[in-house]
Amino acid sequence: MNIVVCKDYEEMSLRAAHMVAAQVKEKPNSVLGLATGSTPEGLYADLIEMYKKGEVSFKNVTSVNLDEYYPIAPTNDQSYRYFMNTKFFDHVDIDKANTNVPDGTAADPVAESKRYEQLVTDLGGIDLQILGIGRNGHIGFNEPDTKLMLDTHVTALTESTIEANARFFASANDVPRKALTMGMGSIFKARKIIVMASGSSKKGAVSAMLERSVDTNFPATMLNFHPDVTLICTADVLD
Ligand code: F6R
Repeated sequence: MNIVVCKDYEEMSLRAAHMVAAQVKEKPNSVLGLATGSTPEGLYADLIEMYKKGEVSFKNVTSVNLDEYYPIAPTNDQSYRYFMNTKFFDHVDIDKANTNVPDGTAADPVAESKRYEQLVTDLGGIDLQILGIGRNGHIGFNEPDTKLMLDTHVTALTESTIEANARFFASANDVPRKALTMGMGSIFKARKIIVMASGSSKKGAVSAMLERSVDTNFPATMLNFHPDVTLICTADVLD
């Protein structure tokens, strides 16, 4: 795993933005795997700035997001579709028809998971995947468990994740209990992965990942198997 240590959140975001822009310049029709959450917000803001300055175009890019709550409407301001539209897609020249987020309104979430997995396969896999890391080591919504799923699937959120994400909702009771998420196999199809982590709350998760042993009860440790992972983190994560 390559490690890039940054002095603060701003530098972490900019370093990641430069890597994404380089990917898109090299391959304008790249498939980008995208994440939501607090961690990549600065990355999206920086990419918007770069786009406005004419430094990068997303015109031919296709995106696939890692996950979505279930059930949730795309118009709900806590949905990941809403997050992506308002924090990134609405501000750049990406064709919305080429942006993909699992459908939190699907009547049959199992069928939706299959459709999404097939979509990633049909796209030929992901060129560059952005990941955040959960405090409990989750990747996407692949929560700690004795078994990890390879393909996109419906999952129950753990209490720790519900509690961590409650900050975005009126109360923990309002956090959907389920999610649709790419599996570890879907994520591992990405040719290149960037994991971003900032702040001392991610210390435990990152140090477990860097111990270089693999534990399904800490999904991020699986990233040690992937041949091209770059961790971009703030210095306090490694203190
Ligand atoms: C979001 C996702 C999650 C987050 C993780 C960290 O699409 O898949 O795994 O990356 O929960 O969230 P933040 O960045 O809010 O700390």
